Amino acid sequence: MARPPDQLRLGYDVDENAIRFSNYFHLLRELVHLSSGWLPLAPQFEVKYALGDHLHDDARAISKIRRRLYELRHPSDYPGAPAEELAALLGRLDEADSPAAYIELAYGEAKPALLRAFRVHLEHLDPVSDEPSLRLLTQLVARQERHVSELGPGSTDAEGWPDDLGRLPIRLKAEPRELRAMPPLVEPARDEFVEVTAEGDPFLARELYINDPEENHVPIEPEEQRHFFHALMDAELCAAELMARNSHEHPEMPWDFHVDMARQVWDEMRHGRLHSLLMPKELGCRWGDYPVGFSYFRSVYAHDLLGRLALFNSTSEQKAMWRHSHRRKVLVERGQEQIAQVFDYLLADEVPHVHNGTRWGTHLCGGDERAYKRRVRELREDLDDTGAPAGEPQAASATS
Ligand SMILES: [Fe+2]
Ligand SMILES: [Fe+2]
Repeated sequence: MARPPDQLRLGYDVDENAIRFSNYFHLLRELVHLSSGWLPLAPQFEVKYALGDHLHDDARAISKIRRRLYELRHPSDYPGAPAEELAALLGRLDEADSPAAYIELAYGEAKPALLRAFRVHLEHLDPVSDEPSLRLLTQLVARQERHVSELGPGSTDAEGWPDDLGRLPIRLKAEPRELRAMPPLVEPARDEFVEVTAEGDPFLARELYINDPEENHVPIEPEEQRHFFHALMDAELCAAELMARNSHEHPEMPWDFHVDMARQVWDEMRHGRLHSLLMPKELGCRWGDYPVGFSYFRSVYAHDLLGRLALFNSTSEQKAMWRHSHRRKVLVERGQEQIAQVFDYLLADEVPHVHNGTRWGTHLCGGDERAYKRRVRELREDLDDTGAPAGEPQAASATS
């Protein structure tokens, strides 16, 4: 096996290394927080999708960086808090006043600056004593390159950003930087060609969303399948937007909560993408062909975090599992294998989404799972048999 001769470069000392990773941590944490806040407000589906995909990458990167810091300097105060220069740059990101302005800053300045610092780090680290950093940074470079190529403005303008942000000082004993939450959402944004109405798509019948084998209706006719999958795509976007806002609005939650939310954001965006591809290929329709409505989204979003987890993850998604499996069975029997397979994947992804409800709902109830289950039961009492708030018949248009 041919290997390059090992060289001893003796690059950064351990503290310099930990400081570099701490700076990456602070920037990535701000990016995950802000991308989660802006995702629901970005109108174009492709942009929304990319934000969801990238924030999931970045959340996982943070977990790995935290792990590397633990390996390098435990116990210690790393990652501390960003010092003045980085704090000012993070403040600029935080001040963006539209999704477009945020994306321009994040993908035209911040991520390119992060990439530069990763490359400097890779060039100077010792490949033997610090091989764990080498492997981690190699992976992080590839991810950031992809992000910048997918959402970057093309030209990077690094004005104001240092050539090597890894070298910035950090404040070890300081309190963690506070993450500011954006104002609450009024409603999520959709592509300009999608009509948003109060009642959503009037074609959708309540029997599509009922969990009763006698009463549930699986869409089998072409026309109803078109409307059904269109509404399902919108329901996936709403699910991603709800999870993104759960993370954004609750920076006080443990880090693993944000990783779980980020994963679900990406899953739901992928589901949306799946439907956007399935519609033209199998059904002869496309995103934007029918109106969408946000009454169900609003009814869940109006609750606190515990209520959202109870109503969405532990009720809506939990009940959707039965419907997906029922739909799959009926469609397989009818020979619509491809569409049936979509439901099988949706069902598989739903299991960890339901678990997110139990895991974090229990956390919010002080670790008492029975107290959480009680809360879920109480909140379900106000729902009708489609899982929508009683008295809002069209709310089903945004559930799955
Ligand atoms: Fe989904
Ligand atoms: Fe889900």
